[in-house]
Amino acid sequence: MRRIAVTTAGGDAPGMNACLRAIVRSAIYYGLEVVGIEEGYWGLIEDKKRRMDLRSVSGIISWGGTILKTKRCEEIKTKKGIEKATRVLKRNRIDGLITIGGEGSFKGGIEIYRASRIPLVGIPASIDNDIAGTEDTIGFDTAVNTALDSIQKIRDTASSHERIFIIEVMGRERGFISLAVGLACGAEIILVPEIKYNLSKISQELEKGRKSGKKSSIIVMAEGAGASYAIAHQIRDVTGYEVRVSVIGYIQRGGSPTARSVNLANLFGHQAVKVLMRTKSAKMVGWKEGKVVVLPLGYSTKHRKEIDKNLYRLAHILAI
Ligand code: F6P
Repeated sequence: MRRIAVTTAGGDAPGMNACLRAIVRSAIYYGLEVVGIEEGYWGLIEDKKRRMDLRSVSGIISWGGTILKTKRCEEIKTKKGIEKATRVLKRNRIDGLITIGGEGSFKGGIEIYRASRIPLVGIPASIDNDIAGTEDTIGFDTAVNTALDSIQKIRDTASSHERIFIIEVMGRERGFISLAVGLACGAEIILVPEIKYNLSKISQELEKGRKSGKKSSIIVMAEGAGASYAIAHQIRDVTGYEVRVSVIGYIQRGGSPTARSVNLANLFGHQAVKVLMRTKSAKMVGWKEGKVVVLPLGYSTKHRKEIDKNLYRLAHILAI
């Protein structure tokens, strides 16, 4: 193996830059050349690249976003797109590819590997933490802390006005952020797409809380768990309490990564280079019980990662 390529694909996540730095520095340390593919798989198809030397990643360890940029790419889901990507990799004499991204990017990676037979390693980076095969993803901890910081500010006004706040966090399909943030901020109610809820029961719980002396309440919900404004209207109509909605949104995707996100990026990036040097297939790195593990890339697409229902129950108990 002489020349490897790296790309950041799908939605960005804080810590992707730290991961690029770890990959570039590790690869050069082991005597490899590194090519950076710009704008994810779209840039791969379009052959948008740059040479990554030691200094190309200087100073980026604490930056949010990705210096290589990223783009959602529909074409990579097609046969034609995969063929184009394969041609570009071969033309550039790339011996191995590292993709930093989420589940969608891993699906694309599997197809690229199948068509090209160029060894590939996927590094899980997604604020959603919804990738099977890893307990943690680059960016998740940062997004959770960003949301938590905002909620602590909202708590001030919620308590001054004695209002109920519905706070919508990211997670179109999964509730990992909502659950972690809800537990950490002491939310009265947590809504996730994975668990059905009943709005009249929730209203009753809020009323019970008021009767037991609670002056304000926080509901943390994942964006995919329902329509926040409609839920707010319904709770207001049933309880008569003042309800407000705050959507935290894309703030969660940006900002400096936390130490946890950076160090996960450092460990994943370094290990991905080592795996790439010895594998002939498509792999992913993951985090399990305090260690970096290596799995077939297909694991992430064949399995579904489940939220920890015990945490959900714990949040409920602690909110009485
Ligand atoms: O995958 C991360 C995520 O931020 C989701 O939580 C969110 O629903 C989605 O990306 C937004 O995607 P886009 O960047 O395409 O708007």
